[in-house]
Amino acid sequence: MLSWDDFEEKEVKPLPQTENKSPLKEESSKSVSNDETIRVASLDDLDIEAGLEDLEGASSRVDVDQKQMINCRADVNQLVPFKYDWAWQKYLDGSANHWMPQEINMTADVALWKSKDGLSEQERMIVMRNLGFFSTADSLVANNIVLSVYKHITNPECRQYLLRQALEEAIHTHAYQYVIESLGMDEGEIFNMYREVPSVAKKAAWALPFTQSLSNPDFKTGTTEDDKILLRNLIAFYCVLEGIFFYCGFTQILSMGNRNKMTGTSEQFQYILRDESMHVNFGIDMINQIKIENPELWDEEMQSTAREMILQGTQLEIEYAEDTMPNGILGMSAESMTEYLKFIANRRLTQIGLEEAFLKASNPFPWMSEIMDLRKEKNFFETRVIEYQTGGALSWD
Ligand SMILES: [Fe+2]
Ligand SMILES: [Fe+2]
Repeated sequence: MLSWDDFEEKEVKPLPQTENKSPLKEESSKSVSNDETIRVASLDDLDIEAGLEDLEGASSRVDVDQKQMINCRADVNQLVPFKYDWAWQKYLDGSANHWMPQEINMTADVALWKSKDGLSEQERMIVMRNLGFFSTADSLVANNIVLSVYKHITNPECRQYLLRQALEEAIHTHAYQYVIESLGMDEGEIFNMYREVPSVAKKAAWALPFTQSLSNPDFKTGTTEDDKILLRNLIAFYCVLEGIFFYCGFTQILSMGNRNKMTGTSEQFQYILRDESMHVNFGIDMINQIKIENPELWDEEMQSTAREMILQGTQLEIEYAEDTMPNGILGMSAESMTEYLKFIANRRLTQIGLEEAFLKASNPFPWMSEIMDLRKEKNFFETRVIEYQTGGALSWD
């Protein structure tokens, strides 16, 4: 652990001069302390104009009508006046439900995992396969936000939520790592499943090209073709990766918790699912707002691409269900999961304005919807959330 006692005062060297223009005027340098070795340029004559001229749109106050989801030239550093209230509200809701993995007691899980007859082979495989998928999937999502999407979403309310979401994805990856470590699993095996186990690898491989096309540093939005690349990325990540690929695994682990098995792991997944359902809702709001502001992007070709992407994602998730549930288990089967995934796919299609693909698909797991609803306070498993809000520590009894 770092300690101030270990900190040795060292001589602070003056900053090297560069050829870049600086708003500071060199000739007015003066000492700011008694230590003659520390000198900074005087701030009295700081040239505000020179500092701001590189910030796009920063030359004037922002009018709310100037704000746009993409390709906006108004200053992105001025959060208010709000235009996209839904984005700000989701930022507030997400912040009010802050949690950390260490707040969840894993003792019962460790005992069950280590006992010889605690879980069947198939139950153990389900726990490992899902940790294998999720431990890397959330990193894919976080990297997509930070390295690909963030700079192209040009309003500060949405960026505020994207920053919140990026933090939540880091907490989710932390939660998976915490479970893997608590249970004493082979970390190399788990963290490499997205490369080595086909039904896991296929889902990651499907999503990666969408992020790679945006992470090229030369990529810019501004033409219909490039704006469509961004829109495809948002559909891939929000409607498919977070909106479909997470649902078989979430349902399996939460069903295990409902049967009083791996209750700590289930509780971690319960909180993650609540965060994820908000991520999906935010992404869908963002996609629909971009469509409203840029109707030329949502042409027939784009609609059919979006539909195809959602159907491909559904197919891959059905394969994952078949791979992880060769036999019925935990009150579910590959067939009932397929029905559920078709129900979810219909929702994703209609949420972005497309027609349902699976007629009469129904929800065989209505309890999943209850868990996702942030407003409902439920008595889950053995621990009870007394106060699931306000950004402080959760309270358990
Ligand atoms: Fe996540
Ligand atoms: Fe997420």
